[in-house]
Amino acid sequence: MRSHYCGLIGAAEVGHKVSLCGWADARRDHGGVVFIDLRDHEGIVQIVADPDNADVFKVASKVGYEDCLRVTGAVRVRSNINEKIPTGRFEVVAEAIEMLNAARDLPFALHENPNEEMRLKYRYLDLRRPEMQKLMRTRTGLVQALRRWLDARGFQDIETPILTKATPEGARDYLVPSRVHAGQFYALPQSPQLFKQLLMIAGFDRYYQIARCFRDEDLRADRQPEFTQLDMEFAFVEEADIQDTVEPMIREVFHAVGGIELADPFPRITWVDAMRRYGSDKPDLRVDLELVDVADAVKHLDFKVFAGPANDPDGRVAALRVPGGHDLSRKQLDELAAHAGKFGARGLAWLKLVDAAKGMEGVNSPIAKFLDAATLAAIVQKTGAQSGDAILFGTGEWVMVSTFMGALRLKVARDRNLVQPGWKPLWVTDFPMFEYDQAEQRYVALHHPFTAPKVDDAEALAADPAHAVSRGYDMVLNGAEIGGGSIRIHTPEMQSAVFRLLGIGEVEARAKFGFLLDALKCGAPPHGGIAFGIDRLAMLVGGTEAIRDVIAFPKTTSAQDLMTDAPSTVDAGQLAELHVEVRREA
Ligand code: AMO
Repeated sequence: MRSHYCGLIGAAEVGHKVSLCGWADARRDHGGVVFIDLRDHEGIVQIVADPDNADVFKVASKVGYEDCLRVTGAVRVRSNINEKIPTGRFEVVAEAIEMLNAARDLPFALHENPNEEMRLKYRYLDLRRPEMQKLMRTRTGLVQALRRWLDARGFQDIETPILTKATPEGARDYLVPSRVHAGQFYALPQSPQLFKQLLMIAGFDRYYQIARCFRDEDLRADRQPEFTQLDMEFAFVEEADIQDTVEPMIREVFHAVGGIELADPFPRITWVDAMRRYGSDKPDLRVDLELVDVADAVKHLDFKVFAGPANDPDGRVAALRVPGGHDLSRKQLDELAAHAGKFGARGLAWLKLVDAAKGMEGVNSPIAKFLDAATLAAIVQKTGAQSGDAILFGTGEWVMVSTFMGALRLKVARDRNLVQPGWKPLWVTDFPMFEYDQAEQRYVALHHPFTAPKVDDAEALAADPAHAVSRGYDMVLNGAEIGGGSIRIHTPEMQSAVFRLLGIGEVEARAKFGFLLDALKCGAPPHGGIAFGIDRLAMLVGGTEAIRDVIAFPKTTSAQDLMTDAPSTVDAGQLAELHVEVRREA
């Protein structure tokens, strides 16, 4: 049907006849000559229809925006060059224009910057836009580069089931009712976690899969209910074996696909240090600001809000310097307090250092009455604050204070333009094994229940679960968690012990994970792995802030597909066949 792509017409084609197919990006009638910009996935080229060729001219005059056309004609050098497009020195003089299909009643013009709802409802048109074509190509390039890298190193690509049993990764499951087993359900995988472990037990050495995962969780700008992982698992390894393999992979692929240079090696930080310095387990190192502990400086104060947590081993008094923050308005300070509130803060103390040389005289703060000159001097010294800065204080339980102060660090950095350009990857290691869920009054796994603890001994783990450290690690880039993994538990004793600590009793463990416990009894090798979020990698390499921009057919933040209108109701017959009865909520 065609001999060339529109966007690739160049000097080599001059004087030759070509056949092009694509869409009419624009039509211009200029004193008897009609120009059409014909666009395909490679770009745009100008078509000229002369009135001398009456048939062609007639069709050209009627061409409408986004009509689908086939054009045949000879390539010549253009008289008025268009420097803005790569084909701008050439044009095709149409000898025939075939209307393959007209475009009627377009919901929006591609150049118009349609709103998000329209983009998702008419996704096929949105995807026609050159920006989206480019992002999707970046994604394809990324996956190709990853596959090439892995294939060259002996990783075996193995598919695992989609209709399966729940594997807990911390989200709710999507369930699929079984027709042949009344009242029973498959779960869509939150990740292939247990299957990849079973593959190691089965004697495969290095596995990977570009795996679709399904999680029913609150959606955000970088989360979708179905998303894609590069999932990997290795037999007979320790942390360093995995990290030293995947770090160069990410570095090489970012270089090859995005021309992005990442540090070599990536810096590493433990979870405790990440929380202490940045208030986050996925710190954005493009921001220089750090949280500072000031407990020592305030523990003697007659001010419970500070002295209480300062003297409590599980408490924290953290300070954040806001460079030039003396200009923060009441409203801005209230906004910061409200933002901290979303992460558990009950209030936010602040201090403006108007003039550092004047001691307490130079301070503007609602908590000034609780401070004294020596305390102020100690705080100023620890935070490195200077005249004109502000200091924000967070007090309370250690993890909560770290978390809301970390959120403030990012907000302050964004609001005040303190996020530096560039690429800041790192590893976060030594995560806690468990976190205590106050609502449920029990421990939950921070990574997942198959992550090995640092201690080898199940009794030692059970003796102090609150302080147990796991063999989990995350790869973080510019404040986004791009990958997470761990060394796994490979003995049935340790796996059972962890289940017990998570409040999963023997009967439940057997019912849910009996197959894993049995497999661990069959000479399971030490093993571990990692999974990267392909969509997040594509976002970063493609330079977009929305995960929806790198997924061809994504869902809205309320997990709907506006184009196909999913989820939707099904007819009564289908439900009956599946033994499902729908309860109508009042
Ligand atoms: P984890 O849950 O950390 O680990 O997921 C791995 C990576 O997948 C990406 N990711 C997501 N991307 C888009 N939308 C989501 N809803 C979403 N959830 C996660 C993130 C994350 O780093 N089985 C383990 C891996 C392992 O232990 O080997 C797992 O799934 O980039």
